[in-house]
Amino acid sequence: MKIAMIGTGYVGLVSGVCFSDFGHEVICVDKDPRKIEMLERGEVPIYEPGLDVLMNKNVEAGRLSFTLDLKSAIDGANAVFIAVGTPTRRGDGHADLTYVMAAAEEIARTAKQYVVIVTKSTVPVGTNAKVRDVVATANPNLDFDVASNPEFLREGAAIDDFMKPDRVVVGVETERATQVMADIYRPLYLRDFPIVTTDLESAEMIKYAANAFLATKITFINEIAALCEKVGADIKSVSKGMGMDGRIGNKFLHAGPGYGGSCFPKDTKALARIGQDHASPISIVETVIKVNEDVKRRMIEKLTDLCGGSFNGKTVAVLGVTFKPNTDDMRDAPSLTIVPALVGGGAKVRVVDPQGKREGEHLLPGATWTNDPYAAAESADLLVILTEWNEFRALDLSRIAGSMKNAVLGDLRNVYSAETAREAGFTAYDSIGRKGY
Ligand code: UGA
Repeated sequence: MKIAMIGTGYVGLVSGVCFSDFGHEVICVDKDPRKIEMLERGEVPIYEPGLDVLMNKNVEAGRLSFTLDLKSAIDGANAVFIAVGTPTRRGDGHADLTYVMAAAEEIARTAKQYVVIVTKSTVPVGTNAKVRDVVATANPNLDFDVASNPEFLREGAAIDDFMKPDRVVVGVETERATQVMADIYRPLYLRDFPIVTTDLESAEMIKYAANAFLATKITFINEIAALCEKVGADIKSVSKGMGMDGRIGNKFLHAGPGYGGSCFPKDTKALARIGQDHASPISIVETVIKVNEDVKRRMIEKLTDLCGGSFNGKTVAVLGVTFKPNTDDMRDAPSLTIVPALVGGGAKVRVVDPQGKREGEHLLPGATWTNDPYAAAESADLLVILTEWNEFRALDLSRIAGSMKNAVLGDLRNVYSAETAREAGFTAYDSIGRKGY
């Protein structure tokens, strides 16, 4: 199989690398010369554990290459994947399909032989049908099919998610395209995994519905956590007790400072918009979007209380600014709301993050950076755990409490407990959905 992958962002690069590891010949295309130069040097433009090793292994094996030249990538390809960005369009909340449609037109103008044009980007329902029409109009002689193949990988666990998926979703219109998609994923078939083959529209809908459901699950537990604080219940026990019900499941019931990242915020907005456009509003998702903003605001109130009512003149150490651990991604991270509120409120903010500095330095003006949580906490009035990186899970809390001006801990990921904080010498501790002191 020869595969062309258009777009070397998160989904495109991980998918391209993993397909080449299946044994397919993969050419990844991007318009950005800096990205292609980096990839050709063997460097990965994003931080994803294990991706560099897997990429270089397949480049050396001669199965994976990178190019700026779409034409050479498409030439002879059995399938061309579109994995370009679909950001939220300014003004109306719709997914911006400019890049998807531009890629479709370029494929139409370039392809010579039968090809399956596969959309991997998250796109609104009806987009694959539009891609089909755009291609047919741009090149009426081209023999092609379209397929929808949404991706469910998580940043930080992307390779594992791709190689051991819970399911692969494929939306197709013809037997021929079904066959090509089956051949592409055949290496996974050996492990007898569940594949959902369906029509284009259902495949597109599965992706949005799954992400919106997960965002709803997180938001639900975040609201229950807020209520737990009021009634004196403990969210960890509540999540555990709920999650043991097989119908609910224990995943995505971890209360925190609100969901972020490149997908949930964007996809919930897009789904809400699609519902409104079809006069079939998804009210629950509209509420989730609003409540997630309230959650972040509640975090600021929590931290204000821990600072005695005002950030002014306080020194605050913030551990973790990426939207979750094992990524350098800052998109829609809770830190983008919380750190500016601290800085704006007059606090001196010191930030530590194992991977966030490159982007974070521009995105969080006014904060100073250090690599060492202990140095950040020294003489500070408040320590905040905002992203649960492993390196923040086994800190010497006594050493930290002993070095702070006011030994106060705001644990927004429930990494520690009131007991451990008290034992370590913290004079005040608050977390999410549990009793503080
Ligand atoms: C998410 C989905 O989990 C993937 O299946 C999907 O493929 C991806 O979006 C996408 O559409 O591309 P991702 O955004 O990488 O993956 O990250 P998640 O691990 O899902 O976390 C999203 C946010 O939810 C983070 O801010 C995280 O801190 C938060 N979260 C997650 C919680 O607050 N509590 C939880 O229990 C789980």
